[in-house]
Amino acid sequence: MALVDILVPDIGDFDEVSVIELMVKPGDTVKAEQSLITVESDKASMEIPSSHAGVVKEIKVQLGDKVKQGSLVLTLESASAASPAPVAAATPAVAAVAPVSAPNVAAAPVSSAQVAPVLVAPAAPAPAATAALPAHEPTALALNLPHASPSVRKFARELGVPLNEVKGSGPKGRVTLIDVQGFTRSVMSGAVQTQAGAAQAKASGGDGAGLGLIAWPKVDFAKFGPTERKDIARIKKISAANLHRNWVMIPHVTNHDDADITDLEAFRVATNKENEKSGIKVTMLAFLIKACVAALKKFPEFNSSLDGDQLVLKQYFHIGFAADTPNGLMVPVIKDADKKGIFQISQEMAELAKKAREGKLSPAEMTGASFTISSLGGIGGRYFTPIINAPEVAILGVCKSQMEPVWDGKTFVPRLMLPLSLSWDHRVIDGAAAARFNVYLGQILADFRRVLL
Ligand code: COA
Repeated sequence: MALVDILVPDIGDFDEVSVIELMVKPGDTVKAEQSLITVESDKASMEIPSSHAGVVKEIKVQLGDKVKQGSLVLTLESASAASPAPVAAATPAVAAVAPVSAPNVAAAPVSSAQVAPVLVAPAAPAPAATAALPAHEPTALALNLPHASPSVRKFARELGVPLNEVKGSGPKGRVTLIDVQGFTRSVMSGAVQTQAGAAQAKASGGDGAGLGLIAWPKVDFAKFGPTERKDIARIKKISAANLHRNWVMIPHVTNHDDADITDLEAFRVATNKENEKSGIKVTMLAFLIKACVAALKKFPEFNSSLDGDQLVLKQYFHIGFAADTPNGLMVPVIKDADKKGIFQISQEMAELAKKAREGKLSPAEMTGASFTISSLGGIGGRYFTPIINAPEVAILGVCKSQMEPVWDGKTFVPRLMLPLSLSWDHRVIDGAAAARFNVYLGQILADFRRVLL
């Protein structure tokens, strides 16, 4: 038996990389080629294999350490110190965002040359790619970490998912991408709480004291009169969590304005009369969607999302509209509203609203919006403060139009006025742009021919 130093081999273009996973512990028996630690650069994660078979004597690195080629990983008691086993080239995974060139590892001895590069997949790596990753050996149990491929670990880290709390459904309890997605969904729906979340909630009494606020009042309502307790619908719980996050995280400002829709409403009523037999009812909301598309084209930052230090400006116009359903608020999406006419939008909207009320919307019908409209026009009210539907940066609230006396320079004339409430993210948009957006929207609604200009 001889003591062998296992060093970080050639890791290609990377200078220093961080140790993100220890896959063995002292006393473990490892085979040649078996992965010992996982390291990660900003572009890829890689598993560092053992050049020898033997028993781990001492681990020389810790999680978070920076290592580079030649760094000592661990010492191994090995019977075959003199002749390291050759290692076959590992297959790099293919679902990478940034192409990372894999060092040529075919057929060379492993001594200090082989790292199995594992290209890190983006948010949703293809399952086929994870299957190509080298599997951990049964003896290579990470210290309290479950089996999972580096891309799944990276995905979990990006979402802040504690991997050791995720139940693995793969062979030998291996955690898969689908497991991480399922866990995330359960946490978002409130069905499951992470240990950290539970501890925080416990520490704060689950009542917002973690934000430095005074505790939520605990009242025995029965002291004041009869009460009834009802479970909150699942959809309402999910939308509540989203609304809460959006309200807390986005610096909202709301600009209110009025649009003169006298002529547009007359046109809408006449159109519906002419097309009575078609069975399609043209609604004010369909015109609003078209008018918003025109305004979004003129003010593109309203059709964007924040991504770190960058603004993602969308060149598509998918407009979500809030629909009131017995189960709570849902937001179906009219895709490519810029390419559709008023009749098509009206028809799609009626179908989507019906599906929403029946709880039959598919995920695809509720995702991808770049801007949202919330219309309370059929109900009433004057103005309100709609909450932005993140990651969008603005939302238009609309209330019930009503006849008002409007000064035309000489006299007051009765005009049908539509109240508009535009909420916007102050990190992206400023007040002047929001005022201009509303003014332009009002001009279009007052005279739809402007859309052609
Ligand atoms: N001013 C005056 N009347 C209006 C109006 C407005 N801004 N918008 C709609 N109406 C009228 C319609 O013309 C219709 O009248 P009619 O029956 O005489 O023809 C009536 O109100 C009902 O319209 P509605 O069926 O609601 O159609 P819509 O296209 O305006 O809205 C939905 C469709 C799905 C958006 C709507 O039914 C809904 O669910 N709204 C609630 C959204 C919500 O809850 N938002 C709050 C989020 S915080």
